Amino acid sequence: MTFGSRHPEREELELTAEGASIAAVSSVLASAEVIILALPGAAVADLATENSAALVGKLVIDATNQMGAPVANSRAALPPSVRYARAFNTLGGENMADPVFADGPADMFFSAPEQDQQIVANVIQSVGLRPIYVGQDQEELIDALFRVWIALAIGQKRGRRLALRLLEK
Ligand SMILES: NC(=O)c1ccc[n+]([C@@H]2O[C@H](COP(=O)([O-])OP(=O)(O)OC[C@H]3O[C@@H](n4cnc5c(N)ncnc54)[C@H](OP(=O)(O)O)[C@@H]3O)[C@@H](O)[C@H]2O)c1
Repeated sequence: MTFGSRHPEREELELTAEGASIAAVSSVLASAEVIILALPGAAVADLATENSAALVGKLVIDATNQMGAPVANSRAALPPSVRYARAFNTLGGENMADPVFADGPADMFFSAPEQDQQIVANVIQSVGLRPIYVGQDQEELIDALFRVWIALAIGQKRGRRLALRLLEK
């Protein structure tokens, strides 16, 4: 796993994941097979414009939220050719760092092209969350779950250590 950074030389960046490294954003985008976008939503359009060739046909997992905008996801800012997946935007980050609750791991609902479903599920599972696939091109559904999390955790002040779970019988 390589983290793209605008300051790859910074010494204070600490890597805890095994085999992780840091490199310049453009070189990471050029060489990555799977890209997770985790930068401010407002910055995605410029990033996509500056790296449009590198993004063509890539699997992009969009974790960004356009805070305060009518549409939370950044799909419209990305080249139409990307294989677009929506995940990691519906929980506060502390729940991804420590995803196990008293009754098991938190669920991470996600949308992805059908042929990329398993890859995205593997990425989600690799951080300890339980992947729940909701379909292809379903970013609006995922964004609704982001709004549910905000309403409960922030709006109702239940706190950020809060996650949603699918129950089945
Ligand atoms: N925090 C959460 O709990 C959470 C949960 C779910 C989703 N999200 C979403 O995930 C994204 C990242 O969240 P965050 O809390 O990590 O935000 P953040 O701390 O504001 O941004 C993350 C990193 O993005 C980099 N960055 C800023 N502008 C950039 C640009 N123009 N080009 C490239 N990199 C840039 C910054 O690195 P440098 O300044 O060092 O270059 C910063 O360390 C946001 O869209 C947020 O809505 C956040």
